[in-house]
Amino acid sequence: MPMDYLVTGGAGYIGGHLVDYLVSKNHNVTVIDNLSSGHYKNKKSSFIKLDLSRKFSGKLDLDHPTVVHLAANPDVKASMSDIHGHYSSNVTGTLNALELARRIDASSIIFSSTSAVYGNASQIPTPESCEPNPISNYGLFKVLDEIMLRYYSENYGIKSVALRFANVTGGRCSHGILYNFVTRFRGGKPIEIWGDGKQRKSYIYISDLIDAMMVANKKSRRKFEVFNIGNNDSCNVMDISSIFKRCAGPKVKSIQMDPQPGDVRNMQLDIKKICSMGWTPKYPSKKAVEKACRDLLAIYK
Ligand SMILES: NC(=O)c1ccc[n+]([C@@H]2O[C@H](COP(=O)([O-])OP(=O)(O)OC[C@H]3O[C@@H](n4cnc5c(N)ncnc54)[C@H](O)[C@@H]3O)[C@@H](O)[C@H]2O)c1
Repeated sequence: MPMDYLVTGGAGYIGGHLVDYLVSKNHNVTVIDNLSSGHYKNKKSSFIKLDLSRKFSGKLDLDHPTVVHLAANPDVKASMSDIHGHYSSNVTGTLNALELARRIDASSIIFSSTSAVYGNASQIPTPESCEPNPISNYGLFKVLDEIMLRYYSENYGIKSVALRFANVTGGRCSHGILYNFVTRFRGGKPIEIWGDGKQRKSYIYISDLIDAMMVANKKSRRKFEVFNIGNNDSCNVMDISSIFKRCAGPKVKSIQMDPQPGDVRNMQLDIKKICSMGWTPKYPSKKAVEKACRDLLAIYK
């Protein structure tokens, strides 16, 4: 049955894929985005240009929509150099999205949290029960967002899920390791390996992520619930560099750089909880990375 969806950050990487998916299922989709990094593409959705770090008191004619809150600055490095700007987009922005959800009587909220809330976790694979201990401002602010989300669910009765994403990969991404590799390579520059290249992380392909978001929202029976969304395996930066060289050809050169502050060393989420809801990833980490390399090399020619 067609439903109303409000997607904040719907012009971004994950948002763009999600909007395409929802429109293909005949849902009525409204996008809110300030276009700070995104590009509004799917004209079968409605678009409102809005900066969520400012209060919005306008009206929206939506019927108990599901609000998918994706709008944020996802750049960990930027969060370390501009804490106040990052707070404004990632915490004030979330507060304003929650207020909007309350005012328009949203039926549920899907929130994009992150594996970065765990920092360098003491338990690998990391279950949802592991205490958040972020090592970046980005991770810290997502913890604050989750607490605000829970407050809104418990006090205003809006059902919600906080989804802690592993690294998401696939065509159209505009940040992250593969984007950096492709844009440097296409610009004739060597790809950068931060630190010793042994940082190991779990990757999920974009179509798997979108399936998991839908499953979590549909199957969760609690007022507020946290789910890890990721893969059963991981790969390190050197693995990714080899996959990239295999996809892009022998001209790829690499250089070693200093480690980046806030960069987690080892990330592998325990995904048993979301899998128990009937979801399972189709592409393991290395396959997800390889598919994304090919997607991106085709886009950035
Ligand atoms: N991509 C990943 O690997 C990953 C991993 C974990 C969590 N996440 C989270 O998923 C969400 C989407 O990430 P993405 O990779 O699509 O990022 P993205 O940068 O491609 O998309 C974010 C969108 O939000 C918009 N935006 C930013 N600040 C805004 C504001 N104040 N008001 C309105 N719009 C604003 C941007 O213009 C952009 O279109 C983010 O919340 C991010 O923290 C992403």
